Amino acid sequence: MKKAESKTEFKVAVIPGDGVGAEISKEAMKIARRSVEKTGKRISADWFDWGCDYYLKHSAMMPGDALSMLSTYDAIYLGCVGDAAKVPDYISLSLLLSIRKGFDQYVNLRPVCLYEGVRCPLRDIPPEGIDFVVIRENVEGEYAQIGGRFKPHTTDEIAIQTSVFTRKGTERVMRYAFQLAQDRRKLKGADGFVGMVTNCSKSNALNYSMVFWDEVYKLVAAEYPQVKQDFALVDALSMWFIKNPGYFDVVVASNLFGDIITDLGAMIQGGMGFAAGANVNPERTFPSMFEPIHGSAPKYAGKAIVNPIAAIEAGRMMLDHLGLAQAATMVGRAVRSVLAEGKVLTKDMGGTARTDQVGQAVFDRLE
Ligand code: IPM
Ligand code: MN
Repeated sequence: MKKAESKTEFKVAVIPGDGVGAEISKEAMKIARRSVEKTGKRISADWFDWGCDYYLKHSAMMPGDALSMLSTYDAIYLGCVGDAAKVPDYISLSLLLSIRKGFDQYVNLRPVCLYEGVRCPLRDIPPEGIDFVVIRENVEGEYAQIGGRFKPHTTDEIAIQTSVFTRKGTERVMRYAFQLAQDRRKLKGADGFVGMVTNCSKSNALNYSMVFWDEVYKLVAAEYPQVKQDFALVDALSMWFIKNPGYFDVVVASNLFGDIITDLGAMIQGGMGFAAGANVNPERTFPSMFEPIHGSAPKYAGKAIVNPIAAIEAGRMMLDHLGLAQAATMVGRAVRSVLAEGKVLTKDMGGTARTDQVGQAVFDRLE
């Protein structure tokens, strides 16, 4: 699949998943479709009912040929997966992880920004005070799923889970992070630097994997003299996210560390309801996948009370990736305008509006 400049028709595979997945995906896709139509192009969606209910019927989260079905789409939109009352989480997450790995979506891009109108749990932080991106390595590292259980369920049992850091895998995610910092230009030439990449590490304790990770960071950094180098151990980084969030530009992290710090990132941007993410295959050999980073919240399913902004924003990131910049900008503006106005808000924001009412408010404001 090549970058689509002159393309006018796009096809998206939607996997709403479990819990609140259907209700938020519906709002996100409705808004994405409308914004694209307004620019004279078209985006169509096929919906796939894969997830925990599917598992109960078929003993698999998705069909055996799911990846080949998905490979014909321009992008994948994922609601959220998992319902531990139906299927253990370590099984249900195979849906997500096998798409990430199978389609080599090795960049997990997770922006952390504070919208005007959204209350930050940190005192006195204005919207411009939180605006950074976490680039999480997405297909290897601690999630390599290499290991085993020796003498299971005996008193001699041993469990081994091995992390895998490859040179190729580490180098390419670092390069993506540096390129992004160069393109974002958050520092705009201050001190001669246009951006900064913070290396999220733990090389004081993980003496093989993270020492290697640091070395590769340095090698790639040398190719980007305009981008400032920065280093933080993951534990200290968590502290700095709270203490001085305005400091960050791009943060590059391994799979597990990236997972953990982006939940923290979500909280400082006002909550899980605002955090969107993209699983990107930068070479575009395979479709990329877009999703809110929150879980499926089965207890809220069907109640129409969850915040759809993260889902809508994931849709915006999808449009951007597809080269539909005009439509993406439209969605971004509509979201910001609804939030800043502060009238149609879900419960997490102190409002009383339903999920679909917030979706409709954003929809009505597309222009
Ligand atoms: C995420 C989620 C997943 C992850 C889970 C569901 C496997 O927490 O996308 O952040 O750990 O990657
Ligand atoms: Mn997570």
